[in-house]
Amino acid sequence: MAMQNGIITVPVFLFAVLMLLGTSFCLQYIVGDSIWSIPLTNNFYSNWSSSYTFRTGDALYFDFDSPFYNVIEVSRGEWESCTANQPYKAFMEGPATVPLMQKGVFYFICNVSNYCALGLKFSVTVEEKP
Ligand SMILES: *[C@@H]1O[C@H](CO)[C@@H](O)[C@H](O)[C@H]1NC(C)=O
Ligand SMILES: *[C@@H]1O[C@H](CO)[C@@H](O)[C@H](O)[C@H]1NC(C)=O
Repeated sequence: MAMQNGIITVPVFLFAVLMLLGTSFCLQYIVGDSIWSIPLTNNFYSNWSSSYTFRTGDALYFDFDSPFYNVIEVSRGEWESCTANQPYKAFMEGPATVPLMQKGVFYFICNVSNYCALGLKFSVTVEEKP
């Protein structure tokens, strides 16, 4: 009987812990899983961001040295054209932590030289934390 209980209660307990972790922990993602710099392939950062599910309360950590790189949050249009004429937010000091506070799609570029055109840009889709 004790054995049977053990077999049943352990997985249920673990399941409960995993549920708790899934709903109460906020994650900080190192952007690109590495330093924020010109990638080897142009789609590297979009590929990176599309491989995770971001939720409100999570944060992005951009690992870079200022003033050689920066992070500018821009509109979709500016992200497409690699401009930052009307930045939403500028993170000029690196490394920078950017909290994801609302659900939606957010666009980030680096506006140093032509780095954005070389692939130093990406968007994130942030979902409401369940
Ligand atoms: C795209 O992302 C996947 C999953 O993270 C990774 O295994 C793959 O190497 C990436 N490809 C490129 C071109 O970065
Ligand atoms: C990059 O954006 C920052 C913040 O808006 C701005 O001060 C700077 O002049 C921009 N640099 C270039 C090269 O456009």
